[in-house]
Amino acid sequence: MVKIEKEIMNDVKKYQKLEKLKKMRDEIQPIPGYYDGLEALCDRIHPESQLLQVTDIEELSKDTKLFRFISAKTNKPLAPFRAGQYIGLIVEIDGVRTSRPFSIASSPNQHAYYELGVKRKENGFVSNYLLDKLKVGDILEATEPLGELYYNQIFHGKDLVFIAGGSGITPFISMLRNITEQNIKLNVWLLFGCLTEQDILFRKELDDIQSRRSNIKIQYILSEPSADWNGVGGFITKDKIIEEIKTIKDKFFYIVGNRAMYSFIKGQLNELNIPRFRTIFELYGVPDDVTKEIGWPKDITLSTKVKVRIDYIRQGKKIHESIEVSCTEPLLNSLERQKSLGIIINNGCRSGACALCRTRLKAGKVFMLPDVKMREIDQEFGFIHPCVSYPLTDIHLDLTLT
Ligand SMILES: Cc1cc2nc3c(=O)[nH]c(=O)nc-3n(C[C@H](O)[C@H](O)[C@H](O)COP(=O)(O)OP(=O)(O)OC[C@H]3O[C@@H](n4cnc5c(N)ncnc54)[C@H](O)[C@@H]3O)c2cc1C
Ligand code: FES
Repeated sequence: MVKIEKEIMNDVKKYQKLEKLKKMRDEIQPIPGYYDGLEALCDRIHPESQLLQVTDIEELSKDTKLFRFISAKTNKPLAPFRAGQYIGLIVEIDGVRTSRPFSIASSPNQHAYYELGVKRKENGFVSNYLLDKLKVGDILEATEPLGELYYNQIFHGKDLVFIAGGSGITPFISMLRNITEQNIKLNVWLLFGCLTEQDILFRKELDDIQSRRSNIKIQYILSEPSADWNGVGGFITKDKIIEEIKTIKDKFFYIVGNRAMYSFIKGQLNELNIPRFRTIFELYGVPDDVTKEIGWPKDITLSTKVKVRIDYIRQGKKIHESIEVSCTEPLLNSLERQKSLGIIINNGCRSGACALCRTRLKAGKVFMLPDVKMREIDQEFGFIHPCVSYPLTDIHLDLTLT
């Protein structure tokens, strides 16, 4: 009898506890006074999108222009960024809505504007549009600042080696401006690879920084120098790296450039036994010809086409469509080109790094570019990054989850 009473009492106590919890859960907590401010701050740092207005355009070299943008909305300041980050510029060209990432070249201490240095890519869809069509006063949409290529004092130490190829100098000029302006006590070696002397972007400013700061050393390395070039020529090899930095001990390496440059530098750093965790890299765009990539199936050529079945949501309804696409174009580009479908897939880096474009592949086979950081869980559940994926067979994509 005593045992039964005890059990009943225990049940009553449990019930009272649950009721108390339920009541607490249903009570509306008063919003703390600072909440409004916090929300506004979060929105300022991570705006859903930004509207940028072109105020200045300057020629940096025969194929590169510097664009300065201010916020197009006077009551909405630009989102702050860390030196080294990029924004995605969103454009609509002949009805195709797309975007491309561009590193912010201006200093993060300059809150009034962003500057982007855009280099023309032969037959490039967006770079040619920006260089030929964009004019002062135009307004463009952009993402918030994104990317993980920035100085991290806990992991990167005090000795930094920046290796830039061509327009890959843009995040480094921002970082160097920041280090100089704030007089940050870091030792920096910049190895800047260009074709010719005329292709050295920001040269006047880089020379000036080097002359004023003994902790910053800059070496230009020209792969196609003219006969009167007195500086270093050739590629950025392991010997040239060591000649500049003397020892690899305690150094942290940042590499920014196109894929061809990156694979070459990666090989050189491997030969110097530099561990992967002492490097950080950013790859500018997809390869010019994916059929030349290691692992690309020989029987699939530039003219091979396949079918893509797409499930997506339009006006709240699930739709199925089938389109024909080229095997040698990134899937994201092919989907954006289907103007009538109006498919929008969120994206940032368009180089396989940010995972924003993650999409479910339900059937078929794709070729994914090497050096793409896929999360294990994404792989397990059949997700791909369409910005760096090329269809090898007929495929089926589920866009209802993005
Ligand atoms: C994080 C990051 C930062 C960057 N920062 C800068 C910067 O500061 N400055 C700068 O100049 N660039 C920068 N880039 C590169 C930039 O984003 C673009 O990749 C570059 O401007 C070329 O874009 P595009 O549209 O002109 O070329 P695209 O049209 O995208 O052409 C690129 C390649 O895409 C493929 N392709 C496109 N369309 C087709 C098709 N129809 N069929 C087959 N293949 C096709 C081809 O291989 C082509 O060579 C950055 C890239 C990244 C990832
Ligand atoms: S857009 Fe960043 S991974 Fe595709």
